[in-house]
Amino acid sequence: MYSMTTKLKIENLTKVFGRNPKSVMKKIRNGISKEAILKETGHTVGIYDVSLEVKKGEIFVIMGLSGSGKSTLIRCLNMLNIPTEGKIFIDGENIVEYNKVKLREFRQKKVAMVFQHFGLFTHRTILKNVEYGLEVRGIPKEERQKIATNNLLIVGLEGYENQYPRQLSGGMRQRVGLARALANDPDILLMDEPFSALDPLIRRDMQLELLDIQSKLKKTIVFITHDVNEAFKLGDRVAVMKDGVIQQIGTPEEILENPASDYISNFVQDVDKSRILQAKNIMFFPSSLVFLKDGPLVAMKEMERSGISSVFVVDNDRKLHGLVTVDDAINAVKERKPLKEILIKNYETVDPDTYIQELIPMTTSSRYPIAVLDHNDKLLGIIPRVSVLSALI
Ligand SMILES: Nc1ncnc2c1ncn2[C@@H]1O[C@H](COP(=O)(O)OP(=O)(O)OP(=O)(O)O)[C@@H](O)[C@H]1O
Ligand SMILES: [Mg+2]
Repeated sequence: MYSMTTKLKIENLTKVFGRNPKSVMKKIRNGISKEAILKETGHTVGIYDVSLEVKKGEIFVIMGLSGSGKSTLIRCLNMLNIPTEGKIFIDGENIVEYNKVKLREFRQKKVAMVFQHFGLFTHRTILKNVEYGLEVRGIPKEERQKIATNNLLIVGLEGYENQYPRQLSGGMRQRVGLARALANDPDILLMDEPFSALDPLIRRDMQLELLDIQSKLKKTIVFITHDVNEAFKLGDRVAVMKDGVIQQIGTPEEILENPASDYISNFVQDVDKSRILQAKNIMFFPSSLVFLKDGPLVAMKEMERSGISSVFVVDNDRKLHGLVTVDDAINAVKERKPLKEILIKNYETVDPDTYIQELIPMTTSSRYPIAVLDHNDKLLGIIPRVSVLSALI
């Protein structure tokens, strides 16, 4: 999935808005609430004591309700917000300590931001919008046009170079926003609710498009959303924020299976689990297995012992060869037939990354448990039909 190198590391980051942010740090540390601090001092705590690490090539999603501090946090990552306290290491350098020159270079080359409301220049053509960052950097016209054209191709907007933003749909405008961000070839993409203004179908397209682009370009992406389904679809890992504080960081599966608070439980209630959970999350290793070298009698006894009416048959490498039913085994014992001759194959097989959504129809097309196999047909686990449905409750 992604390499384990740390790209971005945030340590104890706090951002307070107001006249004298540092003056309220003591109150925050003493556990005085955000509301009380605002009332008493007129300062707003945007985020408090945030620590996290983002790996190179990862899509790291920050999720939380409105006002929880998501934008405050992501805007610290390119220093649009100057942190009140804390450190932000990118490739091992604390960007909070950068001087103006270093900071400008960092913003031009290492990070790019995509905004919710696109932030396009209305009086510039699409091509000129995408060229903007390169122009600022003084890249010669011909070269920047070439780069911009190529990035428009990446986001699927070939042919729109000379149109103006008002001539494009919302989804297309955000593609321009993405192309503009990609034009500088930044290591890190900061995306603050980039798809929230789009209608649901376009939004779904854009999510898939982003995953597609990411699989090719392998940027490090910090992505903000308040939509849990979007968070879990896109995020390799997700951080959940509330009142300026991170409540939980984990993979979508970890958060789904073990929400750290009621706030998070409420969020994940809305999750369409069938699109998040995969076969590997719900399979288990069968309590009974029969080996090819065994006879029908062994198979029969095995089923009797476990109280089941069919059992999978594997070889010594645990490669799946078929399934025997108890009725066939009884007959084979009587007729002295070998196990090989009574193997049936009308069960469903899937790989471990198959989403539950795709398993649901299989529960009606076959009477037997679903076999989960690796690419060598090795049996990794089984999923009884009832487990597919109970996993969704
Ligand atoms: N420039 C600012 N000046 C004063 N307070 C601010 C400023 N920006 C944000 N805040 C405050 O910081 C807190 C966090 O706001 P932030 O914009 O980070 O929330 P958010 O999670 O992005 O919300 P949304 O989902 O609505 O975009 C809020 O209480 C907000 O009022
Ligand atoms: Mg916001």
